[in-house]
Amino acid sequence: MKTLKVELGERSYPIYIGTHLTHDASLLAPHVHGKQVCVVTNATIAPLYLEHYTSLLQQQGFEVSSVELPDGESYKNLETLDLIFTRLLQARFNRSGTVLALGGGVVGDMAGFAAACYQRGVNFIQVPTTLLSMVDSSVGGKTGVNHTLGKNMIGAFYQPQAVLADVAQLATLPKRELAAGVAEVIKYGLICDQMFFQWLEENIDRVMSGDPEALEYCVERSCQDKAQVVAQDEREGGIRAILNLGHTFGHAIETAQGYGNWLHGEAVATGMLMAVDLSVRMGLVENSVLERATVLVSRAGLPVMGPGNMSNEQYMELMAVDKKVQDGRLRLILLQQLGEAFVTSDIDIEALNHTLDAFRPS
Ligand code: NAD
Ligand code: GLY
Repeated sequence: MKTLKVELGERSYPIYIGTHLTHDASLLAPHVHGKQVCVVTNATIAPLYLEHYTSLLQQQGFEVSSVELPDGESYKNLETLDLIFTRLLQARFNRSGTVLALGGGVVGDMAGFAAACYQRGVNFIQVPTTLLSMVDSSVGGKTGVNHTLGKNMIGAFYQPQAVLADVAQLATLPKRELAAGVAEVIKYGLICDQMFFQWLEENIDRVMSGDPEALEYCVERSCQDKAQVVAQDEREGGIRAILNLGHTFGHAIETAQGYGNWLHGEAVATGMLMAVDLSVRMGLVENSVLERATVLVSRAGLPVMGPGNMSNEQYMELMAVDKKVQDGRLRLILLQQLGEAFVTSDIDIEALNHTLDAFRPS
């Protein structure tokens, strides 16, 4: 087992990474505050893992309640969030209790936001069950829900007490979802970790076949990279924005296609290639970086083209509601070399239009 730490002063917390980490409660129990635990999960994950966590916690004397949300990105909204508040109130959950997110990024983002809001904040633990949530969404404290007009537009920064990433739980994850997680893994290589990018080029087949050792390494290295960035800039005043490489394009795709039709990781994969393509067109990086990124994304079974039904105007309109927009100016994450990203509002609009054209299948 590996333990990493997200260094945030009094809000610091551990990330435990391993295979079969949660066969007993020794890692989990010390992070549970109070007597009450509410496990937030969904209808797909509950039959697989809820009973295990419920009995583990009950054996330690905790009072356990749970809420099963409907499954899917299209339910990541205020209406579903209310189901969590209702359950907490029904269980007479008090301020010293602990909300435990058991699921992927959708469950984690909603459970975290509920924990941030319920009685103005209760203790929160993340048990991510998808690769994407292990390498990205469970770490760093971004929580929230979507709005029909924009992705992740309502939320809060709220750090968990601990993250337990048990790679054994990935055995039940569908292949398409595994690939979606790999998109965020490739992201770290592109933005800040050239050596990791090279490792992925050499090991992508092991990762895609679900080799636990390769997956553990992916989770560990990704969390290390993310924790370093978050420790420098918890609330995204600057450097943290690089973690959003490709997300401005990706969020536009997700919103336009209807939440859940393109998986978040799929939209991010294409969006990252768009950002690298734009970096090439603006003379910032060699074309070979785009070629290598395209090969890796494709070997992970992720899309290398955008959808066919979005005009440049539609992209521009949706990208204008991105959280990185400042004073009406679009800001994007671009590369200055493989493993080095930066944030800029100095964007060549003609080149951007060429990029959008190039990613629309003819
Ligand atoms: P998800 O939560 O929708 O999970 C994907 C699917 O896999 C779901 O159907 C889920 O029920 C199922 N599933 C989960 N674990 C499983 C398991 N072990 N076995 C079988 N099935 C399982 O999607 P995701 O990719 O985990 O997360 C995407 C979300 O994360 C998006 O909403 C995105 O905005 C958010 N996100 C947040 C952050 C952040 O920093 N907070 C970062 C990246 C992404
Ligand atoms: N996934 C982007 C972030 O956590 O900042």
